[in-house]
Amino acid sequence: MSAEREHWSGSLGFILAAAGSAIGLGNIWKFPYITGENGGGAFVLVYLACILVIGLPVMLCEITIGRRTQRNPVGAFNALNPASCAVAHALGGGIALTGLFLLAFRQWGWGVLALGAGAAIFRRRWVVVGFLGLLAGFTILSFYSVVAGWTIGYAWKALAGQLHFADVPTAAAAFSRFVAHPGWAIACHLAFMLLCCAIVGRGVRRGIERWSKILMPVLFLILLVLILRGLTLPGAMAGVQFYLTPDFGKISAGSVLIALGHAFFSLSLGMGAMLTYGSYLDKRQNLLSAALVIVVLDTLVALMAGLAIFPAVFAKGFSPAVGPGLVFQVLPTVFNLIPLGGVWGFLFFVLLLVAALTSGISLLEVVAAYFVDERGWSRRRAVWLPGAAIFLLGALCAISVGDWDRLPWLRAAIVAAFGAVKGSFFDVMDNLASNWLLPLGGFFIALFTGWIWGVKPAMDEIRQGAAEYTDVPLVSLLAGLKDDHDPHAHHPAMTLAALWGIFIRFISPVAVLVAFLHTIGWLKLGR
Ligand code: TRP
Repeated sequence: MSAEREHWSGSLGFILAAAGSAIGLGNIWKFPYITGENGGGAFVLVYLACILVIGLPVMLCEITIGRRTQRNPVGAFNALNPASCAVAHALGGGIALTGLFLLAFRQWGWGVLALGAGAAIFRRRWVVVGFLGLLAGFTILSFYSVVAGWTIGYAWKALAGQLHFADVPTAAAAFSRFVAHPGWAIACHLAFMLLCCAIVGRGVRRGIERWSKILMPVLFLILLVLILRGLTLPGAMAGVQFYLTPDFGKISAGSVLIALGHAFFSLSLGMGAMLTYGSYLDKRQNLLSAALVIVVLDTLVALMAGLAIFPAVFAKGFSPAVGPGLVFQVLPTVFNLIPLGGVWGFLFFVLLLVAALTSGISLLEVVAAYFVDERGWSRRRAVWLPGAAIFLLGALCAISVGDWDRLPWLRAAIVAAFGAVKGSFFDVMDNLASNWLLPLGGFFIALFTGWIWGVKPAMDEIRQGAAEYTDVPLVSLLAGLKDDHDPHAHHPAMTLAALWGIFIRFISPVAVLVAFLHTIGWLKLGR
């Protein structure tokens, strides 16, 4: 099977596709508004620290598993799964037992879920991590595509000159009306899913790589134009100042954990998307530098997005701390106040769409790769059937954002099974993926590599293509003296290989676990 597996044409194709996956709505829509809510510059610094501490090590980890196994997440864990694993058996048994207790207390939904999950972990061990990733691909793409659909709608409205809002409340009302109209919301969501399916259906090289190579430069170009436009507005410097001046008084334990969770989502980690893209790499590529470049590009675009948004927002006297509405409500109002507003508005929403598209295709590719590798489906079938299912799931999300009361049966079913439901179906999907599946997935991927598969075999895989970097003392590497030392000398010094091992065994899993326990409310850390 792997003999005929498609591969990227080179490292540039891989890097642009992976950066395209990472750079998405998370960078341009979410990062600026959570920065606005959490006090600007100080939050940016905390976010950078999170990227270094867990983002980079786990990124390298996923890509390495992918290239080693040449498989989708499920196949990858199948290939590396130990024949028996005490940790997995204990964990699976414990969860199944908890499920039995829950059933005894008539908690049917949670009980069945825990029993099923426990039994699956007991029987399939680490393969369950792969299935978690698959499930995350389905859920994330279903609501992601709805938001991406809004950007299509708004780009169209900007072009048609319909974004004339005198103030933010007017813009907010128009936005609510737009998302509450099921016909529009679903049509835009359908358009986005069709684009994703068409690209992924063409395959790795002719679809994903080719379109990433076209779309990523377009994204950079539009972003640069918008930054120049924002910075040249009178009064823009107040926004730059807000963005770049750290005020640590505004940082709480809560905002550190938000930064941590967002670092994960933004880098597309925790569900095997990078693993799947890594599975199309051949052994010549340098995984170290690829991981580094992807992480740097993703961070750069998040920072640039803030620079495109805050100066304009401040120049027109708006507040940055308005939450998710920043992009769809405040920005159109801002654009309306500057000359040629329609053009800037159109460019901005096309930028969002391009970013969302290269991310959407990576989510779909995870699912498609599973059906191609493990079920032997043709690529066409593996793309369009799951694509249709995701479309239906997303349609429910789209309807529920506008008005949850339109889906009384769905709400009643969730309440009957799980006792209560917070927010709309859209929020349920978002919450399930971002707060549960991704952190758990990331935690177990790091744990698996560090303690089950082992740092040594992983490092041997990384060495292929990066040997001259992995085993040099870190100080020599940083000092630019990497070729200046004797490879046969015995040295107790810290190398990149050793550093990565320590991060992947201890630091990254602990950091992710703490963040996870905090988000689900089992751990209280101050505010
Ligand atoms: N990283 C993307 C963003 O910032 C979203 C995304 C794409 C993603 N693929 C993913 C998130 C896989 C988690 C896992 O918008």
